[in-house]
Formats: sequence, C-alpha cells, structure tokens
Amino acid sequence: MGRLLRSGDTVLLSGDLGSGKTVFVQGIARGMGFPGSVSSKSFVLLGEYQGRECKLYHADLFRLEAPEQAEELSVDEYCADGVMVAEWPERAPHVFPPDHVSVTFEVTGERTRALMLEAEGERSRELLEPLASRAPASRGR
Ligand SMILES: Nc1ncnc2c1ncn2[C@@H]1O[C@H](COP(=O)(O)OP(=O)(O)OP(=O)(O)O)[C@@H](O)[C@H]1O
Ligand SMILES: [Mg+2]
Repeated sequence: MGRLLRSGDTVLLSGDLGSGKTVFVQGIARGMGFPGSVSSKSFVLLGEYQGRECKLYHADLFRLEAPEQAEELSVDEYCADGVMVAEWPERAPHVFPPDHVSVTFEVTGERTRALMLEAEGERSRELLEPLASRAPASRGR
C-alpha cells in the first residue's frame, strides 16, 4: 500500500488497542521510502515523515479530548498536503475527507491479525484495485 499511496490519500485505521495499527503505518512508511522508524504517538497527536515522493502524516487521535481539538490540529490541511494515515479516526470522523480507505484490524490470535480493507470513493477504489486481486477473500468493494 505504501508504494501505491499518493499525496492527498487518506487511510483510516480502526481496531482495538494493540491490534496492529502502528505496525501497519510502519509498513506504509517503508513503502513510501521513509527508512526510519515510526513511533507510537502516545502524547504527540501527529507525526511527520518524509517519503520519496511526498510526506506521510501519522495521526493518532486516541488521546483526543474533544472532536474540536482535531479541527485545531488542521487535520484537513495535512490530508491535502501528503498522505494521511490515522489511528482512532472515530474520535473525530468529520475532519477526514469522504474519499478514504478504511482498514479494520482484528486480533485473531497472539501472533495473527485479520485486516479488512474498504474503499470509500473513486480514488480509494482505484488505490485498492491492485491489492484486491491478491487478497485471500476479496468482495470487490
Ligand atoms: N500484522 C501483525 N501480525 C502479528 N502481530 C502483529 C501484527 N501487527 C502488530 N502485531 C503485534 O501487535 C503489537 C501491537 O501492535 P501496534 O502497536 O501496531 O498496535 P496498535 O493497534 O497501534 O495499538 P494502539 O491502539 O495501542 O496504538 C505489536 O507489537 C506486534 O507484536
Ligand atoms: Mg498505535
């Protein structure tokens, strides 16, 4: 996915604590050409990483106190300026663009996870197309 993402794309990650969201962001960073490590954003709400073609913004809204706080963070401006990948987007769903990919993480065992990828909007469907053909169970959505 990291290799397919372009500036302006948004990916929203949902799943329980410890289900693998930050590990997934690390993989996206690698695919975008950022060689370093992506930290878990326990206190900082937004991380910024320089990829080959554009920036990766990693938002973690777990500690957001109120949805209005996300507006103060100007999440929408970051979404337009690079790739936005957000953990806990449910804390402020209204700040994200309508065209986005949602990834839902399920803990299926101590060392296994099941991921469901869904596209909302034209660009996001196009983005998932090459991945869908490789998925174990694709519903073509
Ligand atoms: N795809 C995976 N397969 C197996 N284990 C995984 C996978 N992804 C993550 N893990 C395990 O789950 C642990 C927690 O992952 P991670 O920190 O990415 O969770 P998170 O969803 O970001 O949690 P939080 O909501 O607290 O930020 C990792 O340290 C790793 O051991
Ligand atoms: Mg995390």
